[in-house]
Amino acid sequence: MGHLPDVLPIDRDRLHLPDDPAVLHRDQQRRARMARLGIRPHFGVSRRTRGLRGGAPAERRASARAGRRCTAAVVGIADRGMSAAASRKRPTMTNSAAPDVCPMSNHSERPSMATQLASPPGPKGLPGLGVALKFGRDMYGYLPGLAREYGDVVSVPVPGRTMVLISHPDHIEEVLFAKNDRYWHAPAEMREALLPGQPPAIVVREGEDWKRARRVLNPRFSERSLAGVSELIGSAVSDGVEDWRRFADTGKPVELQDELGIVIMSALLRSMFTRRFSREHILTFVKQFGTHGEYAIRGLFTRIVLAGVPFGLGTKIPPHEVPWPHLAKRKANFADLLGQIDTLIAEHREHSGDASDLLALMLAARFDDGTGFTHEEIRSEAGGVLFAGFDTTAYALAWTIGLLAKNPEPLQKAYAEVDALGGGPIGYEQIPQLPYLRHCFDEAQRLQGAPINARVAKEDDVIGGYAIPAGTIVIHSPYGLHRDPRFWTDPDRFHPDRFATDHIGKYAFIPFGAGPRRCMGIRMAYIEGVLALANILQRYQFHVPPTWQPEHRFALATGLKSLPVTLSSR
Ligand code: HEM
Repeated sequence: MGHLPDVLPIDRDRLHLPDDPAVLHRDQQRRARMARLGIRPHFGVSRRTRGLRGGAPAERRASARAGRRCTAAVVGIADRGMSAAASRKRPTMTNSAAPDVCPMSNHSERPSMATQLASPPGPKGLPGLGVALKFGRDMYGYLPGLAREYGDVVSVPVPGRTMVLISHPDHIEEVLFAKNDRYWHAPAEMREALLPGQPPAIVVREGEDWKRARRVLNPRFSERSLAGVSELIGSAVSDGVEDWRRFADTGKPVELQDELGIVIMSALLRSMFTRRFSREHILTFVKQFGTHGEYAIRGLFTRIVLAGVPFGLGTKIPPHEVPWPHLAKRKANFADLLGQIDTLIAEHREHSGDASDLLALMLAARFDDGTGFTHEEIRSEAGGVLFAGFDTTAYALAWTIGLLAKNPEPLQKAYAEVDALGGGPIGYEQIPQLPYLRHCFDEAQRLQGAPINARVAKEDDVIGGYAIPAGTIVIHSPYGLHRDPRFWTDPDRFHPDRFATDHIGKYAFIPFGAGPRRCMGIRMAYIEGVLALANILQRYQFHVPPTWQPEHRFALATGLKSLPVTLSSR
């Protein structure tokens, strides 16, 4: 295949696309070179962050001064207007809690330094329970509230764990990118919740094992490879959206989030196995993955945040371990799901000799020693891709449709962009002509915002001048970050054009994560997302009830509580 232009105008630098290990670790190598030459990497207020719109000029100047002194602990104070109470709680460089050497000045600072530093400030919480109940009751609002009150690095007391919330993009860059090898991505709880008793899929692999797998899988999800499966994705999306004709012009609302789930699952299955699946078959997968996801998030949250809270009572998360019939149901569902994937792989091996779908690409993947994945690993990886790519993309689309329906001006602009294509079939080749749709997708994901992403410190560390002992769960809230007025102008407004006009900080917008563990399916998500939007806009007008507002639904991916849409043909 000749050279393919990057059809998706992804800013590689902004998004840190790791196509191969060299690119994956390019910046780390650069930093290592700088360290060898005695040049100090800069982790104070980065130019990118300083350049963000949203702060008043005076604040930005203060922020820049703070950056020159390289005092990340000061950054939160300089940048942000704070209440008197909050400023009392936050450390300053004259505060005895602050270190007398710049903790961010040298990235290779000795871990033992952590033991000499203060713990971050934070709420005390209830004896034995910490703040687990409050956190469990308000998964979205609670963490940003803590950041507003206590600053960019906050101790979050939960039973039996040390948890720290970080909220500044520079600190998030440290943990997800610069120091990523000092943090676990998938602790045992996550592996157990997602793939109980199975060989790991990439999302829960660690260390060398993860590097080895990502090295061979990453090229399979590159622009070039996906161009090869884009026809499968495009046809599934177009068929799925065309199938909505049965709901159009009836005057009756349809739960569009569920229908988007079917369209995306169909696109994933077709791109993985080439086959066309019936609506019933797709629905079975949707249900099974949905059930598995529900148990997984329940298991994860109860094991990490609510560990020690009897049955998770009083929170919105139902108990994980009891009653026992739930566990049996979970096991049966999971076994059934694995069985279905087994059958599809077996059929594929038998009948699809020259297929160029995702499964064929994964089966052809070879490690340095010439071996490939085992059957069980392929099953985990294929299931992992379906799982990781399904409700994430469907929910991001649901947010986009809902927010477009509520915002007539962006909606008209989106219609105009699609209509300018002239009415023919819309596929992969048309994507570069749809930049506004991509911005709508991004802007919706900004507001959608996952409530939490986490890493676990492998060794003692220092963040923002505070001690992070080994074993600490370091969390950040994309939801909070994406609405932080320091980094976003008018953050509550749905304004897709900001992605065309504003400078968006690399670590201020992280729906796909960041650093080497960033989403491997990002290109596929954009292909599916933009194609689905274009196909929907080309065919339908959509309306939500006048009182409808987007409400977050907590799950592995953040959905909407409901998206009742009335469709009419265009
Ligand atoms: C809008 C859609 C999507 C969103 C918002 C999303 C988001 C994410 C996030 C936040 C992570 C974890 C990053 C971290 O832990 O820091 C992730 C990882 C991952 N995603 Fe996605 N994702 C999407 C679509 C997809 C699709 C379509 C696929 C596959 C076809 C996919 C495959 C993966 C995989 C394999 C990983 C694990 C990567 C690793 O650990 O190395 N995702 N995604």
